[in-house]
Amino acid sequence: MASAASRVLVVAVRLLVAACAVLGGSGGGGGCFTRLFSFGDSVTDNGNWMHYARWPGTVARLPYGETFFRRPNGRFCDGRIIIDHIADALGIPFLTPYLAGNTSEDYAHGANFAVGGATALGHGYFRRKKLVTGFTPYSLRWQMSWLKRVLNMLAPQQGDPGWSDLMASSLFLVGEIGGNDYNQALFQGRPVDEVKTYVPDVVAGITASVAELIGLGVRTVVVPGNFPTGCNPGYLTRFRTNDTAQYDAAGCLRWPNALTELHNRALQAELAELRRRHPGVAVVYADYFAAGMDLAADPRKHGFGGAPLVSCCGGGGPYNSNLTVRCGMRASTTCPDPYQAVSWDGFHFTDHAYKVIADGVLRGPYAAPPVLETCRSRL
Ligand SMILES: *[C@@H]1O[C@H](CO)[C@@H](O)[C@H](O)[C@H]1NC(C)=O
Ligand SMILES: *[C@@H]1O[C@H](CO)[C@@H](O)[C@H](O)[C@H]1NC(C)=O
Ligand SMILES: *[C@@H]1O[C@H](CO)[C@@H](O)[C@H](O)[C@H]1NC(C)=O
Repeated sequence: MASAASRVLVVAVRLLVAACAVLGGSGGGGGCFTRLFSFGDSVTDNGNWMHYARWPGTVARLPYGETFFRRPNGRFCDGRIIIDHIADALGIPFLTPYLAGNTSEDYAHGANFAVGGATALGHGYFRRKKLVTGFTPYSLRWQMSWLKRVLNMLAPQQGDPGWSDLMASSLFLVGEIGGNDYNQALFQGRPVDEVKTYVPDVVAGITASVAELIGLGVRTVVVPGNFPTGCNPGYLTRFRTNDTAQYDAAGCLRWPNALTELHNRALQAELAELRRRHPGVAVVYADYFAAGMDLAADPRKHGFGGAPLVSCCGGGGPYNSNLTVRCGMRASTTCPDPYQAVSWDGFHFTDHAYKVIADGVLRGPYAAPPVLETCRSRL
């Protein structure tokens, strides 16, 4: 009797594994995860900032959103961002921005807690350094408290079977976050040698949140590193120099990329430690740095045009990036075909570039193991 039941179970599990393998093999990831929860800044925000900000600024205007949604929608992009492409691959609907939802139905497929301008560390850290904290107060820690509210709407208490099912079927994406912790100081004129001293604190802030997620029972968490900001048209414009030695072969500024690498190395060391302490949890590092460098160095490989360091939308200049005349302002211009462009507005990527990054995280080479494989091994 027991063996008949267990045979049925074994067959069912095999069918599931086969189904997932087929879907994974054909490019889809349906059935892998049924929910996605994400944290971060404007790279990941799909409407939180626009939902609550009294003066949301240019993101609330065309051409933001022109490519896919055909209207501004709170994404700092012409179209879809990384989480949209991940949701697509998993076969789940686009996430509800946390601040735009109310009920457990709104969050049935997960929630997005990312807010444009968010830092990993709270404002107090930067105020103590006499920095101006202009943007949102909703740092990573704050976003974590929102998660707990949503989890309590979706499942009973931690420890109940419903809770572990929820955790096992959910993918968590923590970042990119931390970029603004450095951007803010650098754009206020702080020397990079000072900003480098923030790295251990920023990384500790991110790691603490990942550890907290693991404590909540999370099974699969993806933590991206930061992008090569030295390839970003906004940085290239603000920190332009005649000293050619400061540029690499792709035309990116070396020192911002060195800062990113410092951050990424420290983050990876902390993630390795978490993996060692929690062998049952998939802690996946997503290599956004490698993705950004590939896009800058060999854009044609993925069907982009030949100017990866020039933003599609902006106020002119050699990188079409102007910190006063920004994308969305009347004097800015937009390229005719954003699909050809890597950078959308000087600080954020295009729909097409975000698709390349998301694919690399889902299927490799920008995550080890690729996220769709963590799903298969979980079944
Ligand atoms: C959430 O619920 C409140 C009270 O029922 C309502 O006023 C508000 O419009 C709702 N917000 C959203 C985004 O649905
Ligand atoms: C680069 O050199 C030119 C010519 O000497 C000068 O006009 C310009 O201000 C310099 N630019 C920077 C960013 O130093
Ligand atoms: C940005 O635009 C303003 C106004 O047109 C102009 O004065 C300024 O020189 C531009 N800056 C750059 C870096 O192109």
